[in-house]
Amino acid sequence: MSIPHLFSYTTLLIFFVLLSCPSWAQLSAAAKGQEVHQLYCSPCHGPRGEGNGSLAAKLQPPPTNFTDKKQISTLTDDHLVELITKGGGPVHASPIMPSWAPILRPEDVRNVVTYIRTLSRK
Ligand code: HEC
Repeated sequence: MSIPHLFSYTTLLIFFVLLSCPSWAQLSAAAKGQEVHQLYCSPCHGPRGEGNGSLAAKLQPPPTNFTDKKQISTLTDDHLVELITKGGGPVHASPIMPSWAPILRPEDVRNVVTYIRTLSRK
């Protein structure tokens, strides 16, 4: 096998190993989700998702604390995606939680769910 061939096979192999490694994809999804969270969610849910954003004190019920493992672990990804997309009202939560369908793309919603999950994993 010539050197150029060997090189390209190795490059391909490394490429596919990286591609199939879920933590890389997860990492970038969570990072993108964090940007979405800082922009749109942190005023209520807090800069670190602790439910203590600048508007939180005025809201009843208070915004959910995403670092509360007990609460967040009971919620499925499907529920979170639906709630973030449609808002609290249609899923029997408080309508203070807005619908993000007009603003966020479906992939933004999935990324922010990935990010929220990282907050309660510690
Ligand atoms: C105007 C304030 C406000 C903003 C902005 C906001 N939320 Fe909320 N959110 C709430 C409130 C209030 C609740 C609590 C609803 C309840 O307990 O019924 C909540 C609840 C939630 C829950 C938990 C629902 C459950 O079933 O326990 C999730 C997840 C959530 N919000 C995600 C987000 C995301 C993601 C964003 C940004 C894209 C966001 N929220 C922006 C006010 C807000």
